[in-house]
Amino acid sequence: MTQLKDSYERKMDYLRISVTDRCNFRCQYCMPEDIKFQDKSHILTLEEMLTFAEACLLLGVNKVRVTGGEPLVRRGVVKFVGWLKDLGFDEVTMTSNGYLLEENLSGLVEAGLDRINISLDTLQPEKFQFITRRNHFEKVWRSLMAALETPLSPVKINAVAMRGVNDDEIAEMAKLTLKYPMHVRFIELMPLNGDTDGSRFRKLFISGREILDRAQEELGDLKPVEKDDPAAPADEYKFDGAPGTFGVITPVSEPFCARCSRLRLTADGKIHPCLLTDLDVPVKDAIRSEDPIPAIHKVLWETARIKPAAGLTLPEESRNRTMSQIGG
Ligand code: GTP
Ligand code: 5AD
Ligand code: SF4
Repeated sequence: MTQLKDSYERKMDYLRISVTDRCNFRCQYCMPEDIKFQDKSHILTLEEMLTFAEACLLLGVNKVRVTGGEPLVRRGVVKFVGWLKDLGFDEVTMTSNGYLLEENLSGLVEAGLDRINISLDTLQPEKFQFITRRNHFEKVWRSLMAALETPLSPVKINAVAMRGVNDDEIAEMAKLTLKYPMHVRFIELMPLNGDTDGSRFRKLFISGREILDRAQEELGDLKPVEKDDPAAPADEYKFDGAPGTFGVITPVSEPFCARCSRLRLTADGKIHPCLLTDLDVPVKDAIRSEDPIPAIHKVLWETARIKPAAGLTLPEESRNRTMSQIGG
């Protein structure tokens, strides 16, 4: 088998499929309250997404993550996870906001989901409502607790760090790892969602270094954890005897582009070779062609050829797109 590689010799073996751009939340850093979603007629069917995934698998892609928008708002997504597992991926994972998770847990486990990451930026219901513009903290927390009782445990938590918003909760969030098998990761805010002059970014950005220093200062005794997967974006630490880990993802201050193995499919049938550039390559026609696998392979190699060495992360280069269109 030929392994898909880009022109910098980086393997591309991790596919992220955004099954929908829709979401039941409106997180401030991700999308505006009045976002216009894509007309459903432009969205690939789950069968079409599976054909794309199969073409990727044949080129050595062995991990797939189902994202959104919010993946659990797409009808049939549980069944889709099962199809991906049956195709033969080593690992099928999901990133979700947790709102619809509790009722879908047993289905996802049965379908063979390997792991789940849940987005949770705060432990305070009022602040949760301020950030996500929805009053759903309790339901998300219930889902999280329920997930810890399934084979999906330990669960990874994604918290976007924002100065003056949730940086007062660094210690509280870190302390969760003393009690629960959770991998809590603070993510550096990226300049997306129409933050074109970077003003929101400048006001709210807080670096991973500062977060770690503050956790260390308040709680002490954080020790680095060896990475299983060198391409994983998080730098993780552990308190003595803790069931979980605490870490940071630093796409802005210490970009991990040099070890990027990712490839993204959007719900409307475009491949994004990089989260932080506007490059995209249409693949819908190839997927819908008579002999789709070779047609998709051609587009994948084209994408690999133009995957940039690094993304643009400076505020003045802020992107207009919303994270929900690309799936994080
Ligand atoms: P696993 O380690 O397999 O669990 O996946 P992950 O850590 O990649 O999980 P997740 O999808 O939850 O990613 C966490 C966050 O890291 C994403 O939501 C993004 O904010 C950020 N991130 C992931 N991939 C990239 C990337 O290629 N570029 C940049 N700049 N940020 C990324
Ligand atoms: N900066 C950093 N992370 C973001 N996410 C969404 N928008 C941003 C942003 N502007 C993260 C959320 C979610 C994941 C899919 O992307 O935490 O977990
Ligand atoms: Fe929805 Fe996730 Fe975007 Fe929040 S960050 S609006 S939960 S897609």
